[in-house]
Amino acid sequence: MRRIAVSLTKGGVGKTTTAVNLAAGLALSGSRVLLIDTDAQGQASYMLGLQPKVGLAQLMTEEIEPDEAIVEARAALWLLAGGEALAGAWRWIARKESGGEQTLAEALAPLDGRYDYVILDTPPGWGAMTANVLFYAHEVLAPVSLEVLTLKGLVQFQERLKAVQRHQEIALEHVLPTFFDRRVKKSVEILEQLQAYCGQQLCPPIRYNVRLSEAAGYGQTIYEYAPRCRGAEDYRRLTERIARSAST
Ligand SMILES: Nc1ncnc2c1ncn2[C@@H]1O[C@H](COP(=O)(O)OP(=O)(O)OP(=O)(O)O)[C@@H](O)[C@H]1O
Ligand SMILES: [Mg+2]
Repeated sequence: MRRIAVSLTKGGVGKTTTAVNLAAGLALSGSRVLLIDTDAQGQASYMLGLQPKVGLAQLMTEEIEPDEAIVEARAALWLLAGGEALAGAWRWIARKESGGEQTLAEALAPLDGRYDYVILDTPPGWGAMTANVLFYAHEVLAPVSLEVLTLKGLVQFQERLKAVQRHQEIALEHVLPTFFDRRVKKSVEILEQLQAYCGQQLCPPIRYNVRLSEAAGYGQTIYEYAPRCRGAEDYRRLTERIARSAST
């Protein structure tokens, strides 16, 4: 069971768009996928057109069992929803005297082996939620927006990841450039810098495509909303690459 965290400290880089469309792409290609939204914004449910009443928050505070917390979002795609209730759940964790960063891993332990992939969407910033996700996941996929120079942000993220690596076998395996626009000089320059810095870990970019934000507004994945657009093409290519890449 591969556990992939879609994470970067910086906000608005395409984390949720990537988590949702990667999870949906893997499910469409025949894998069993659990998408976990660890963000109090609850955007992943919204992008899938769902409003589950329960989710990760209730699971973490031990109010309900995993089977009651998970909803079937699409064929072979299950969702453990985020949302406002998570703010309270994280406060609950913060009060724990020790082992707070293991709370998510403990809550998810009964799900081991049930899925081929667990894809975790994380909130921006570096809070208790992100730490918990990194203590559970084995691979990190970091979306990096090509609209602004984010190499520094990526380097900082890697530094923080090092602290987790002392306790957990986790690696930044995939760096995904997002909002790529070939016509914009800066976009091309940043992509070149990333290429030099990341080497093999660099995935082919996701191009800027307005269909991706429109799809979210309609509660549809990009394959449902506009299966032939560039966004769908790019996320299909990412899905194939992730499926091919060796798991850790
Ligand atoms: N390749 C793209 N082209 C155009 N718009 C995009 C693209 N990727 C994402 N978007 C849009 O950009 C906005 C931010 O994307 P998203 O919510 O996925 O980022 P995020 O990193 O999850 O943000 P946050 O840090 O707030 O959780 C959304 O409106 C989304 O629809
Ligand atoms: Mg998000």
